[in-house]
Amino acid sequence: MILCQGFDAVCVFVNDAITKEVIDKLYEYGIHILALRCAGYNNVDIAYAYRKIHVVRVPAYSPNAIAEATFALILTLNRKIHKAYIRTRDHNFNLSGLVGFDLVNKTIGVIGTGKIGYQVIKIALGFGMNVLAYDLYPNDIIKNTPGVKYVELDELFKNSDIITLHAPLTNDNYHLINEESINMMKDGVMIINTSRGALIDSKALLNGLRSKKISSSGLDVYEEEQDLFFEDKSEEIIKDDVLSLLIAMPNVIVTSHQAYLTTDALKQIAFITLENFDKYFSGEFLNNEVCYKCKNSPKECFKNRKKNCW
Ligand code: NAI
Repeated sequence: MILCQGFDAVCVFVNDAITKEVIDKLYEYGIHILALRCAGYNNVDIAYAYRKIHVVRVPAYSPNAIAEATFALILTLNRKIHKAYIRTRDHNFNLSGLVGFDLVNKTIGVIGTGKIGYQVIKIALGFGMNVLAYDLYPNDIIKNTPGVKYVELDELFKNSDIITLHAPLTNDNYHLINEESINMMKDGVMIINTSRGALIDSKALLNGLRSKKISSSGLDVYEEEQDLFFEDKSEEIIKDDVLSLLIAMPNVIVTSHQAYLTTDALKQIAFITLENFDKYFSGEFLNNEVCYKCKNSPKECFKNRKKNCW
């Protein structure tokens, strides 16, 4: 924290917890702009930051990067590439246990049809999949796309072969995937999360995998990732038993919040973050500000805001 004393601005990433205490300190040090190098902002107490520190983000750096990583997880899990890779390295050319399924004509449930969800839908349609979509604010272009149907959450849970999460984490959707929703799902469902860890109740996911209700799961995010992801913990004993059990399962792939990690996305993140700072210090409208007054909804915020709210 002391590191930021004497500076005019602070730049943080997804797992930096910007709590009330941190905001108070930043305010005390005269720092009035906090730039997130990411799209999600669930790690910032936006309500508390209001009128103390401007919070800007990078709303879209490469939705394709995350959508493509989502399909990397789907294809790897389905066709067991992770297992085949290890086997052939050991000169084991046996095929048992490596059977997958065709994606064509299968149903994918996409929760959150914003920038990333839309790219996921386009890729899914390319594979000939049927798409069931759910969003608090359905998108007209997607609504009129052949092969896509907006449905209520229950219907999506009941009818999807693969469920993939692309909604931001909010107070309303914490543990959206829980014991009850898992019970509604098709037997053998695949669950993918490249959005935010706490959208899934990890213990319920683990139980669903154990009972074989869930056939496989790809997790780029994890609800307790904050003290683990982005660090080399290979010499340490991981104390999170749920994560250890998930990682130990042959039908689970955990990646450490790397769905965004392409050169294209990194360039965009750097460019937009510097542009956000430029705008703030030259007194321009902060089009990438996260606005509490507009109820944390970027879409509403964009519609309502003529100028920055404070
Ligand atoms: P976006 O803002 O374009 O789209 C989010 C969509 O979710 C919107 O259409 C919104 O109406 C909808 N939504 C909000 N609350 C919802 C709810 N309770 N149920 C269903 N839909 C809801 O955001 P974008 O760019 O598509 O990103 C989505 C999320 O992906 C981010 O919030 C972030 O958490 C995650 N992300 C993950 C990355 C990674 O590397 N794994 C990188 C970038 C983003």
